[in-house]
Amino acid sequence: MYVLVTGGAGFIGSHSVEALLKIGARVRVLDNFSTGKRQNLPSHPNLEILSGDIQDVKDISHAVANVTHILHLAAQVSVQDSLVHPTKSCSINIQGFVNVLEAARKHQVDRMVYASSAAVYGYPQQLPIAEDDAVHPISPYGLEKSVNDQYADLFHSLFNCSMLGVRYFNVYGPRQDPKSPYAGVISKFIHFIEQQQPLTVFGDGSQTRDFVFVSDVAKANVAALRSDATGVCHVATGTSRSLLDMIQVLSTCIGRELQVIHQDAQAGDIPHSAAHVEKLAQALGVQCSTRFEDGLRILLKEVLGSKG
Ligand code: NAD
Ligand code: UD1
Repeated sequence: MYVLVTGGAGFIGSHSVEALLKIGARVRVLDNFSTGKRQNLPSHPNLEILSGDIQDVKDISHAVANVTHILHLAAQVSVQDSLVHPTKSCSINIQGFVNVLEAARKHQVDRMVYASSAAVYGYPQQLPIAEDDAVHPISPYGLEKSVNDQYADLFHSLFNCSMLGVRYFNVYGPRQDPKSPYAGVISKFIHFIEQQQPLTVFGDGSQTRDFVFVSDVAKANVAALRSDATGVCHVATGTSRSLLDMIQVLSTCIGRELQVIHQDAQAGDIPHSAAHVEKLAQALGVQCSTRFEDGLRILLKEVLGSKG
């Protein structure tokens, strides 16, 4: 496999690049380094890093030359930014997506896997959520990901392009930037612990999420590239945990009680999220099996080192 990874210098991208190099694939990264970092990537004889933008057709054409597969992860990833700057978000997440899709078709790549998101569902109609449940996006970001799914489906039926959308739930792990105000709750909490600050919980902390460790996500991406599954597929553990539960695990890992401040629940916050993961197991043969306790311990060790 010769894989183009767009957004390969980012959080999920860099772990996916490592997983691909490990199975002997050749990898080319295309990234504009807006949130990704070069230091997230190793030096490796099978890895080439291109600086470029998915909004620029020339950059993509150049990047896609000779590759057999595409893992498309580059995106404007902030839901909040998509609400504040919907035009910019649309340009990256829809126009940019179509640019990559069209390059995949023109260059007749064998397969394309792209990042969809649980954000397409908005407030879940029922739990656990199944892939064929109705989508009700409640942000431009969620809508853009849902439009990506429709484009991919159409290109599959019109042009027989082999593609799969991987719908990640709440991914956590090393290299998730905690400094952004929109960072995932786990990276924020670990940053607060590092700074010896109290953890801020919005609401009573009973909200639940399917937190999936990034190495498992990388493993799913590799399996998705190697499979011929189409449509969309959840990438999640199948088990959801509450924030209070997560804080308890963090507290046990570091061996002391953590100070918690409660603030009002945020507008638009989803109380519970849970995923069906049968397709992931059956079509991709993947189980996101890293225990929550182990994932948090690995992350704490990475961030706090001996300080923990
Ligand atoms: P990230 O910000 O770490 O990675 C995104 C990467 O894309 C970065 O390296 C960034 O520099 C690059 N990029 C952004 N705009 C670009 C452009 N115009 N041209 C080229 N490169 C560009 O975020 P992530 O969490 O690794 O997200 C990867 C993908 O997974 C995204 O598509 C995101 O929407 C999706 N996703 C993430 C989560 C999660 O929990 N992290 C959940 C659901 C979906
Ligand atoms: C994720 C997206 C969010 C999007 C939603 C759609 C990220 C970082 N967030 O949100 O933008 O709308 O998917 O499905 O990708 N929390 C705290 N304290 C904090 C931070 C968060 O209590 O300091 C709470 C939140 O209110 C939420 C939970 O933790 O209830 C999880 O938050 P987050 O990590 O942002 O993920 P989602 O809410 O699932």
